[in-house]
Formats: sequence, C-alpha cells, structure tokens
Amino acid sequence: MTSNARTPVIAGNWKMNNTREQARELVSALAPQVKGLSGVEVCVCPPFTALEAAKAAIGDSGIALGAQNVFWEEKGAWTSQVSPDMLLDAGCKYAIIGHSETRGRFGTVDETLATRLAYFGETDQTINAKAHFIMGKGLLPIICCGEMIDERKAGKTDEIVSGQIKACLAGLSAEQVAALVIAYEPVWAIGTGEVCESEEANRVCGVIRETVRGAFGDSAADAVRILYGGSMNDKNAAELLAKPHIDGGLVGGAALKADSFATICKAAAA
Ligand code: 13P
Repeated sequence: MTSNARTPVIAGNWKMNNTREQARELVSALAPQVKGLSGVEVCVCPPFTALEAAKAAIGDSGIALGAQNVFWEEKGAWTSQVSPDMLLDAGCKYAIIGHSETRGRFGTVDETLATRLAYFGETDQTINAKAHFIMGKGLLPIICCGEMIDERKAGKTDEIVSGQIKACLAGLSAEQVAALVIAYEPVWAIGTGEVCESEEANRVCGVIRETVRGAFGDSAADAVRILYGGSMNDKNAAELLAKPHIDGGLVGGAALKADSFATICKAAAA
C-alpha cells in the first residue's frame, strides 16, 4: 500500500502479443508468483482473442482481467467493435482506453504518420464517451494520457496532459473519478527503453492529481489511482513506485515475461 492508502495497480498491457496458448502459459507462470501478494492489485490485459484463455489460467490467483479497448455503444451494426457487456461477460474488470497507440500518437514520427492517424483515430472526445458508457455498465476504465517528445521539448507537457485529463473525464461524477484509473504514459518513453526519470514522472502524476482536484474535488483527487507507464521494468520499477503520486504501473514489454512482471508486482506490494 502507498502511504496514502491508495492500493497500487500493476497492469500488464500485452498489446498485440500472445495467442491463446501463449496467454495460458504466461498467466500460469505468473499466477503462483503473485497469488497472496497483499497491498497490490495485479491485472493482465491480453488481446480480445486471448481474454478467455487468460481468465481460465487466472483461476483463484486474484489477478484481475482487463481489455485493451472497448466501444461506447451497447450492440448493433458497429463492425469490429467490442461492447462493455461482452468484456464483462469475458470476465473483465478493466478496459484500457485512450492509449497513445489508439490515439495515433506513436513515439516515432515518420512518413506513415498520416496513415496511422487516419487509422488510429481515438480522440479525447471518444475516450470521454467510452468512459461514460463503460462506467455506467460497471467496467472500470484505465484512461491514458501523455505528451509526445516535441510537446515536451516545447515545454507543453503539463498543458497537454492536464488538457487530456479534463477532456477525457468531463461530465463524470466525483465518485466515478475516484473509482477509475489514470495512466500517465509519456509517448517518448513507450517501448524505447528510455524511462521517464522518477522525480519527473512523479511531478507529472502530481499535476494530473491537481487537475482532478480542481475539477472534481479532494475526495476524487485523493482516491484516484495514477499509474506510470513507459519502459517500466523489473530494474526501475521500485524507484518509480516509491514516489508518492505514482500508484502503480501500466507495463508493456516487461509484462510479457512472467518473472519480470512478478518482480514489478512485488515491488508495488512492498
Ligand atoms: P512499454 O512498457 O513496452 O514501454 O509500454 C508501455 C505501454 O505503452 C503500456 O501501455
């Protein structure tokens, strides 16, 4: 537990990795290592196709299940989309929404950017629609925010991140905001091995918390869990997780190996 009584969350975002069999193997290796850990909530977010296999392997280990996206409509003619009811039916507690990769905000800017932006068109407004709809269904969002490297270099980090958070949370109740999870993921740190220095990660998570305080009041700001994500691994996790505003991690690459992910979970529990 952190000193402020927020239970940290360590969520593994598997991204587009693992077949059903690989999911079973990974979760089966992870489960005995994290079962019984107290003071941390462990979550895995497989691709949609592996949710059921992961759920079966979770067994009674206490690991929570999350999806990597969700849609804001109940059902119907929405080809390719997945509803919150479908995810709840698959055993999910959480859904990641607004990851930089679904916003089309990748760490590298190259000639394919226009195509990527057209394909990965998530906006603060669609994220907000998803947050409202899924919370009404009882699914908890992990809402991602973060600046790109050019925005950081221009001194716009705080403005970008607080703007994203205000827009993504708009219209939710203070009780809803207290229950959800925010992930600060500087885009330049994702998948690059270039982790954000812990003091700075803590500072930006503090900016996010004050943004929540300004819009939703003290109880929401003091309860909302704010995770750090971006090249978190078994070596750097303990230092990041010791910071007062960092209430856990959203882990990509290091979540694909049971031992390294378990080490991060244990660091959060400590
Ligand atoms: P990495 O841990 O691979 O940098 O990915 C972070 C991330 O994007 C988690 O959502």
